[in-house]
Amino acid sequence: MVDAIELIHQDHLNLDKVLSVLLEVGGNLPEKKSTSKLTVLRDALYYIEVFPERFHHPKEESILFPFVRKHRPDLGQILDELHQQHEDGSKVIGALAARLKDLENDWTSNRVAFESELQAYIEAQRQHMSLEEREILKPIKQSLSRIDIKSINSAYGVSVDPLFGDNLSTGFNALLNRITRLGERESVTNKST
Ligand SMILES: [Fe+2]
Ligand SMILES: [Fe+2]
Repeated sequence: MVDAIELIHQDHLNLDKVLSVLLEVGGNLPEKKSTSKLTVLRDALYYIEVFPERFHHPKEESILFPFVRKHRPDLGQILDELHQQHEDGSKVIGALAARLKDLENDWTSNRVAFESELQAYIEAQRQHMSLEEREILKPIKQSLSRIDIKSINSAYGVSVDPLFGDNLSTGFNALLNRITRLGERESVTNKST
């Protein structure tokens, strides 16, 4: 049986890696149009659309949040806040995908706006995940009985992640390489500091 809390936590770690690549590539774009950067940005935004937006957040909405509402009604207000963040995040990711097309068509006019919208999105997603970790996952892990945890585990099931799952979708090869290289660089930096 899956460990639902661990699964959600792992999804967060994975999404954070994709956000790091987005920030590295799209947070400070060169003045001259870069096709290779556009490709990475397109792949990373597409991943967010097809996995976190299609599976991770909806499963929190349909399984995790009702479960927490039932067992920990005191956390209702935070769940409302998180629900609103899911709604907002979906709108922003759609707008960013459109903005990326604008960037592709006219790099100079859209570069700065894209950078700042992307940075705001990354920041909001990171805050969202840390709110879930701190205010939902941690408290329920500590306060629920084994039977309660078992019931959410059996309801959760697994989702097939096309980037971090067992079967990498071919379109995500380059993105995964980028994530691996960034991870290696960060681990070298952390060791030398
Ligand atoms: Fe969420
Ligand atoms: Fe989440």
